[in-house]
Amino acid sequence: MQEKLRCVIGFVAWMIPLLCVFRGIPAAAYPGGPLHDVTDAAPYCAGCHSSIGLEQLRDLPAAEARKRTAAVAHLDAIRTGSGPYAKLSAEQRTELIADVRKVDENSKITLEVPTAVKAGEMFMATVKASGGSGPVIGVMLLDIDLRNQARAIQGEGFYVYSPPRVTGPDGKQEDQWLGRRYDGLERNLNFVVVFGVKTNLAADKFSSASVTYDLVAPSRRGKYTICAALLYGTEKASPVGRVEQGGHTMPLGGFAGPSGRIRFSKVAVLDVQ
Ligand code: HEC
Repeated sequence: MQEKLRCVIGFVAWMIPLLCVFRGIPAAAYPGGPLHDVTDAAPYCAGCHSSIGLEQLRDLPAAEARKRTAAVAHLDAIRTGSGPYAKLSAEQRTELIADVRKVDENSKITLEVPTAVKAGEMFMATVKASGGSGPVIGVMLLDIDLRNQARAIQGEGFYVYSPPRVTGPDGKQEDQWLGRRYDGLERNLNFVVVFGVKTNLAADKFSSASVTYDLVAPSRRGKYTICAALLYGTEKASPVGRVEQGGHTMPLGGFAGPSGRIRFSKVAVLDVQ
């Protein structure tokens, strides 16, 4: 009897997050960004997001890689009206594709770093990011532009010296992300969520923000690669791509849909002398 009860309790506990996923409730707060996981991350975590281009999937067999691109995973699904997109008329699907494309074209990320620094020297890295569907975008500094295998630059021996400085879309310094870090924890994070991102497709308006890091170069000399990744959504920017659910704005493609994106900046080479 007790065994049976334990089984039932176990099953119900297991179903709760699953139900949240399927009912589109942001259990872990994505979409909307991983708002409670205020820590460093790498792009592999964004398993549902689709990739901008094949380059970041070059470690996978070509057929496998293609399936994960935005063009195939997302735009083809809308075009063919598969899954949640079956609700849309042909005109609405065309509209959603055009809107999503516009978000992608206006979503950018660049990274500025010096070309050479001394071992153990402090230097500045500046990330400029724009676009996304809002309300947030995510930025991280990585060793390489590989979606599944990139690591946070700390893995190469860089040290994030101080809390990153975030200039939000309104041009003011913002602290919403680091302010969510639990009491007493260090705030020198690499992964940053930028708040206040607003997108107005009709008016052709997109937000931009910047994140500045104080980094310490590795102690070992050599050539290092470094790049930045942008994590963003697309569908919620479109009137046909967003759904109101229990007080949350959700993408039509759903909680586990392919409307999120992973985009990389150019890879910079840093000569540590
Ligand atoms: C269960 C699927 C799923 C996983 C896993 C996931 N995301 Fe997302 N995420 C989404 C979807 C769907 C959107 C796009 C919303 C849209 O199209 O407007 C999104 C959007 C975002 C956004 C932009 C906010 C928004 O609502 O547009 C950020 C930032 C983000 N994700 C970061 C992450 C990070 C970091 C991880 C790993 C820790 C992650 N996501 C894992 C599904 C996921």
